[in-house]
Amino acid sequence: MSQQTVTSDLALSGAYGDSLAEVYDQLYPVTAGVEQCVGVLAELAGEGGSALEFGVGTGRIAIPLAARGVRVTGIDSSSKMLGVLRSNDPGATVDTVHATFGGLDLDRRFDLVAGVFNALCCAPTQDEQIEVLRVMRRHLAPGGRIVLETFEPGRHHTRRMTETVTHPLGPGAVLMEQTQIVPEGQLMFLLNTMIDGGTPRVAAGFMRYVWPAELDLMARLAGLRVRERWGGWDRGQLTADSPMYVTVLVDEAS
Ligand SMILES: C[S@@+](CC[C@H](N)C(=O)[O-])C[C@H]1O[C@@H](n2cnc3c(N)ncnc32)[C@H](O)[C@@H]1O
Repeated sequence: MSQQTVTSDLALSGAYGDSLAEVYDQLYPVTAGVEQCVGVLAELAGEGGSALEFGVGTGRIAIPLAARGVRVTGIDSSSKMLGVLRSNDPGATVDTVHATFGGLDLDRRFDLVAGVFNALCCAPTQDEQIEVLRVMRRHLAPGGRIVLETFEPGRHHTRRMTETVTHPLGPGAVLMEQTQIVPEGQLMFLLNTMIDGGTPRVAAGFMRYVWPAELDLMARLAGLRVRERWGGWDRGQLTADSPMYVTVLVDEAS
């Protein structure tokens, strides 16, 4: 399998992904939830189907999805994340494209287009998120599905205090993750500080969170419609307590 490089006028920096690449798999190990997610994606892609993952990262989802027989292509703007993916995938079962979401045109269509673990929230404005949805639609095969996983904003939107979570990373190393909400922009700022004995390294970035009803409307503006909505990968109902939600979209013409 191959790696291509695509450039885009709407390029965002891959710096944040780059800063997390070396510890990402420790921070976000493969859990039962990941396996459930992969099972749902494999079913939606269909037997021997094709999938395009936006923000493929280290391949945490893409590699087990490929192991289930899905032909997976992953795009990411972080060359370091893609470097980790390649070492996690010695058999090169996943095709990778080094590119940003905005303006992407691979001139190919896929049975499944996936943006899991808040990929859509990486686009920093509402207009750019609608553009990402249009780009996803452009890559959708007839009858295909777009699947988005986004965090449920309710618990965060009214929070005024900085939240700090520390992730121990082995002897003498810790990653401190601080988040601060800017409600008027629906923004969650993230500040990661890596402390491992040398000079502490800091990386900052932000995500724009999305309300379910807002996502429905943005999808319509992008020529899509909501087919299903769940409060988790177990396909349970979305409730006020759901930490995230999953949205399945189809082309409005289908
Ligand atoms: C939270 S990680 C998710 C990785 C993987 N999907 C997973 O679940 O483990 C988000 C990924 O999206 C990438 N990313 C963020 N913004 C992007 C953009 N505008 N274009 C392409 N990739 C982007 C980051 O580099 C990072 O690897």
